Amino acid sequence: MSQHLSDAPRSAAAPAADASARDWWRDAVIYQVYPRSFADGNGDGMGDLPGVTARLPYLRDLGVDAVWLSPFYASPQADAGYDVADYREVDPMFGDLNDADDLVRTAHALGLRVIVDLVPNHCSDQHEWFKQALREGPGSALRDRFHFRAGKGAHGELPPNDWESIFGGPAWTRTTEPDGTPGQWYLHLFAPEQPDFNWDHPAVHEEFRSVLRFWLDLGTDGFRIDVAHGLVKAAGLPDIGHSEQLALLGSAPMPYFDQDGVHEIYRGWRRILDEYPGERIGVAEAWTPTIERAALYLRPDELHQAFNFEYLATPWDAAALHKVIDKSLAAMGAVGAPATWVLSNHDVTRHATRFANPHGGTQLREAGDRELGLRRARAATLLMLALPGSAYLYQGEELGLPDVTDLPDEVRQDPSFFRAAGQDGFRDGCRVPIPWSGTEPPYGFGPEGGGSWLPQPASWAQLSVAAQTGDPASTLELYRSALALRRELPALGAGRSVQWLDAPEGVLAFRRDGAGDGFLCLVNLTAEPVVLTVPGGRPLLSSAAQPPAAVPAAGGSPDPVDGIEVTIAADTAIWWAI
Ligand code: GLC
Repeated sequence: MSQHLSDAPRSAAAPAADASARDWWRDAVIYQVYPRSFADGNGDGMGDLPGVTARLPYLRDLGVDAVWLSPFYASPQADAGYDVADYREVDPMFGDLNDADDLVRTAHALGLRVIVDLVPNHCSDQHEWFKQALREGPGSALRDRFHFRAGKGAHGELPPNDWESIFGGPAWTRTTEPDGTPGQWYLHLFAPEQPDFNWDHPAVHEEFRSVLRFWLDLGTDGFRIDVAHGLVKAAGLPDIGHSEQLALLGSAPMPYFDQDGVHEIYRGWRRILDEYPGERIGVAEAWTPTIERAALYLRPDELHQAFNFEYLATPWDAAALHKVIDKSLAAMGAVGAPATWVLSNHDVTRHATRFANPHGGTQLREAGDRELGLRRARAATLLMLALPGSAYLYQGEELGLPDVTDLPDEVRQDPSFFRAAGQDGFRDGCRVPIPWSGTEPPYGFGPEGGGSWLPQPASWAQLSVAAQTGDPASTLELYRSALALRRELPALGAGRSVQWLDAPEGVLAFRRDGAGDGFLCLVNLTAEPVVLTVPGGRPLLSSAAQPPAAVPAAGGSPDPVDGIEVTIAADTAIWWAI
């Protein structure tokens, strides 16, 4: 297959918009640290804040701009910390507030920003308010801060409505009243240990405004807002009228997700963020039916960014990726927000495994073709980092880690694995502690003998940071080179559009103007090599271990007027300077 790349742009995806407000977050590369699994400072097999702090120079050298930490608050860990008992305390398993303070200061000294995870949709059943609400029984004023209801049926034995938990089973759990009789039910969109707050109650608003200030005062640079689309529920908590509601998520409007009322909350939070110097940001985890609905969270007086889950869920398919890139740039451009890009996080099968699997999906149990998955994952990373906007990396993807698909059931901890009786909930596979060095577990994750809370595969010795450092063919060095180039060519993250170039089926080719003399990103998503003719220039970086073969198109002329023929291997991306 051979194709001449024309210089003419085929489409400019986003409308031209005001580019004056180019703030740090608009093109930031943000690295997600999952504190349980990043680095264990005290040798108890569980990652902690001092462990993260000690490894921050690694992240500075990797070349990212900011770190987002999943929750480290006081929590019984029913959902790995997304069940918060005290929003102003660090769980002892992770350290204490001084450690959090230390982490933020050290990061800032290294030029890294720090974003913390805020969980406002629900708390833990061990949160003081909820414990008191249970203790005081029906009529307690504290019960109004949650969704307590009488059950249906002659004896209140049926849940108040038909909503299902995202983790499987009903979204309601019946309480036992202080006198021992079966009592009211309470709503939990996730695990029973995660009661939903009632955001119609002013005390809930007041509490979260205060929590925001608490962490902003400590110096954090912003918040990733967990389940940002869930806070407001439709009045009267109406039935949905279907079972298997999980299948409807993301495509149909739901009475508990993406209600218009959430936007007023984020307008209030934006005012608080703006009171602080240094552009503190809010990032929405908002699963919405369309990208356009996600963009509503990013209007100029609301939050700054939202995760692009549609991009994450797009298979390794050129046409599908082309479409989602255009759609994302247009939707975000329309509200003046940067597009964001993400391939992996702590809730989905790592992309090196997703792309190895012909069936797709984000909760996979099959390892698939490891080599194929890694080749595509590396190419996907170069594609993502060449797009305008902000990119999110998940710890360990820079090592090319696959998901651990063969964890025995008895070590799994994902609550949805147990709720759904093994049907779903395979998130532990992407949460295995990452390998830093050495030939035996815990591979430098913590001190020798300290173990790791999920077992690490024997094959990870060769994937450790130490094993990959200095090996030009390694995935780690590919990330380092790509991030260094992104810094050298700030235009890569800037702007709101790409210029698509004509390319054969299965190939993506676009130009990013303003990046040096001219920058092309060429991605071959097919299983065969392709030959493209480019106007001249040289390769900057290839996702394949070997640089691409490039010869003058006109058959050997030292100063080719007809361009250069570049052979791009199967499942490979190339950054090319012209
Ligand atoms: C978000 C988190 C996920 C958690 C859920 C409930 O989706 O990313 O890990 O289980 O919210 O808090």
